[in-house]
Amino acid sequence: PDLGRTAGFGKIILFGEHSVVYGYHAIAAPIALSIRAQVTRQESGTELVIPGLVTSGNAHSAESAESAESADSDLPVRIAALIIERLGISASGMRIEVFPSLPRASGLGASAALAVAIIRGMANCFNIRLTDNEVNALAFECEQIVHGTPSGIDNTVATFGRPILFRKANGARSANFSAVTVPHPIPVIIGLTGVRSLTARTVSLVRTAWAKSPSRYDGIFEQIDGLALAGVGALERGDIAELGDLMNINHGLLNALQVSSPELETLVAIARRSGALGAKLTGGGGGGAMIAIAEPDRTVAVAGAMQLAGYTTHLTEIRAATEPPA
Ligand code: PMV
Repeated sequence: PDLGRTAGFGKIILFGEHSVVYGYHAIAAPIALSIRAQVTRQESGTELVIPGLVTSGNAHSAESAESAESADSDLPVRIAALIIERLGISASGMRIEVFPSLPRASGLGASAALAVAIIRGMANCFNIRLTDNEVNALAFECEQIVHGTPSGIDNTVATFGRPILFRKANGARSANFSAVTVPHPIPVIIGLTGVRSLTARTVSLVRTAWAKSPSRYDGIFEQIDGLALAGVGALERGDIAELGDLMNINHGLLNALQVSSPELETLVAIARRSGALGAKLTGGGGGGAMIAIAEPDRTVAVAGAMQLAGYTTHLTEIRAATEPPA
């Protein structure tokens, strides 16, 4: 089988995490890290094999790893069961092998990437033709098991594998998104805090705060919305200095939403000190990952400084369309 067609992409959110849940704009882009799944038929029974679970483990991870672990360990099984039911293949025996190169619960969209990989893998195996829109809609249903009320941004990037400006569904309006073009690849450094964090938790913390004083929080969301819209222009011009400024402001506003963490603050400070033009948390926050952009000749130095402090980094690029790694 063509494994390339069975990849679900991981993602970074450049602007608009959390405010996207309230109907505001966000920009997300796929990263080179992905999840693949290979499905093969067997006599009977369903087997789900996820070899060598990839974790974001480092010295900072020990404690929160365990609590997050017990909460999400059965999710892959529930996701696979839902997909089997929706594709109408519950009478068949199959073996689903998952190959993750994406750490879980790190804010990089692993659950959506897993759903897309399994959907594509099953469709391949059972010769079911699915459009990308159908894959996306089913992956969104899977995300609802994981997150409760997801905006749909993760599954959309995991499915389409290109940078997008996204708005979630609202009443009668269905979710919409448009491609954001970039003139040349923009290098991005991803820093992992090693602290696993569940997005459902930070989303609910923000919900509680918003419910207490909606107008105060709507004001913050509106400002983030403006940053995301300005970010489209900066990306399309390849203006990384402007992009960096916008990211720094977005991080400040995420701080105002109280979804940052000591480790995220440390990584953001290290990135800026070592020459990054912009640095912010990405995804749900409370742990998980941050991203930084720098002039191409500074990216290795920025990543090196984070590593020296004991953190795991990944280098990726924002590019027009991301091919799954060979
Ligand atoms: O933590 P992640 O990678 O699932 O990102 C979630 C982004 C949020 O805006 C916080 C939630 C959502 O559903 O959009």
